[in-house]
Amino acid sequence: MEKNWILRVVLMVGLMGLYVEGLGVNWGTQATHQLPPETVVQMLKDNGIQKVKLFDADDNTMSALAGSGIEVMVAIPNNQLAVMNDYKRAQQWVKKNVTRYNFHGGVNIKYVAVGNEPFLKSYNNSFLNITLPALQNIQNAINEAGLGDTVKATVPLNADVYQSPEDNPLPSAGTFRPDISGLMTEMVQFLNKNSAPFTVNIYPFLSLYGNDDFPFNYAFFDGVDAPIMDNGIQYTNVFDANFDTLVSALKSVGFGDTPILVGEVGWPTEGDKNANAGNALRFYNGLLSRLAANKGTPRRPGFIEVYLFGLIDEDAKSIAPGNFERHWGIFRYDGQPKFPMDLTGQGQNKFLIGAQNVKYLSPTWCMVNPDAKDLSKLADNLNFACAYGDCTALGYGSSCNNLDAIGNASYAFNMYYQVQNQNRQACNFQGLAKLTTDNISTPTCNFTIQIAPSSASSLMPSFAALLFVALFMILLA
Ligand SMILES: *[C@@H]1O[C@H](CO)[C@@H](O)[C@H](O)[C@H]1NC(C)=O
Ligand SMILES: *[C@@H]1O[C@H](CO)[C@@H](O)[C@H](O)[C@H]1NC(C)=O
Ligand SMILES: *[C@@H]1O[C@H](CO)[C@@H](O)[C@H](O)[C@H]1NC(C)=O
Ligand SMILES: *[C@@H]1O[C@H](CO)[C@@H](O)[C@H](O)[C@H]1NC(C)=O
Ligand SMILES: *[C@@H]1O[C@H](CO)[C@@H](O)[C@H](O)[C@H]1NC(C)=O
Ligand SMILES: *[C@@H]1O[C@H](CO)[C@@H](O)[C@H](O)[C@H]1NC(C)=O
Repeated sequence: MEKNWILRVVLMVGLMGLYVEGLGVNWGTQATHQLPPETVVQMLKDNGIQKVKLFDADDNTMSALAGSGIEVMVAIPNNQLAVMNDYKRAQQWVKKNVTRYNFHGGVNIKYVAVGNEPFLKSYNNSFLNITLPALQNIQNAINEAGLGDTVKATVPLNADVYQSPEDNPLPSAGTFRPDISGLMTEMVQFLNKNSAPFTVNIYPFLSLYGNDDFPFNYAFFDGVDAPIMDNGIQYTNVFDANFDTLVSALKSVGFGDTPILVGEVGWPTEGDKNANAGNALRFYNGLLSRLAANKGTPRRPGFIEVYLFGLIDEDAKSIAPGNFERHWGIFRYDGQPKFPMDLTGQGQNKFLIGAQNVKYLSPTWCMVNPDAKDLSKLADNLNFACAYGDCTALGYGSSCNNLDAIGNASYAFNMYYQVQNQNRQACNFQGLAKLTTDNISTPTCNFTIQIAPSSASSLMPSFAALLFVALFMILLA
């Protein structure tokens, strides 16, 4: 018994040494079908992932994390920032979502993310005046609860809050965006007063996306023909350049030593010509080996705390930014690894350990009925299916882009049918569809079977969905 215990400690210490120190992942839950939180937590443990960043403070997720020892960043969504401007509400939030979990065997909360990229230009300044007061109230309430030494509030920001001037686009010239520079200065002061980190999301993929002039190799970490020179410093990748632009911006407001945490960084695998497993593998190989070596950046050598984005694909995310948005996971929708990687950063790529005991719906697909005579309504039905099912894999540059019109419709019908938990009525499409138990996947395109709904999930209340289907059918008829 005692020997066993010692062995286990030795094993644990051994395992811990194997992982990139401080490596975290983002656990988003905007999926129509979610794995049970306990399954996800087991997956984190199985792969030695010791930190997780959430987008809310959901009870079920928190319960699953309790006792795991995993460090957690809980979050306040943007739509709750306004109410957090009321100190009493901030106190309640902290009491319910932080203090309540602060016991032996509770949740190891390290950070509270106040909002998520609230200063994005696309939000039209909606959160400009309410984010800093929310941050202040939350940290002050944490301090008042006596947890200020261990729990830090921070605001995950998009990298668009800082920039270099167009006529001097070098990291050393970084400053905060002029329209928010006063606000950013105050925020940085407050973070420093509380020894809290500045959190930034950095996306080399987005530098490439829709920008064919961007030097392709500069998005990765394995060298470029013509490094960018900045006062004698060589930049060979956009991650370093971007990070150091922030270092300069912080310096410009007098806080050059502010700790920086990378809240999101990663590479998607579908939804664009550059979004595929090969590029993701190349990106993570470069990133993880640098993190393992504590290389840091030219202006900030050493350890960087990083959260990969993301853990699992999310088929219900908005695709306003692009089709790739639903495919950031290092795991597929069902918790199975997409490509080999090495979280230790040693380049020994192996498939990560997938979710265990995943329950799938039955192996039944919905497809276009080959006997259907009138195909004139095929397009309308495809559009309907794609409004609820995820059809992003059909787009340009994705794995299912080579299907013909019938294949496209079958793909869409199946995605819809799976989202509706294989409800028989969800495979009709005005008589155009039929069920099949033959796997209709093609060599390049997976026609997937959804996972069984977990009690914690279901984004779309099925009653509302059915009502909508009924309305739609009436409209089409
Ligand atoms: C705690 O967090 C949950 C989930 O994000 C949220 O719905 C709830 O309103 C929060 N509780 C309080 C008291 O603010
Ligand atoms: C921002 O403003 C534009 C143009 O007025 C509008 O189309 C868009 O819906 C607005 N976005 C948000 C998040 O309010
Ligand atoms: C933010 O506050 C400033 C100063 O009080 C005000 O002029 C501005 O209209 C506010 N902006 C928004 C988006 O509410
Ligand atoms: C299939 O759908 C995709 C995405 O909507 C589209 O790009 C492609 O042209 C379609 N193929 C055919 C043959 O209709
Ligand atoms: C269907 O076939 C694809 C491609 O061979 C395979 O990856 C997938 O696991 C199969 N699905 C099921 C449910 O058997
Ligand atoms: C299809 O799914 C299988 C796992 O069932 C996976 O190995 C394969 O890479 C997938 N293919 C594509 C094109 O995504």
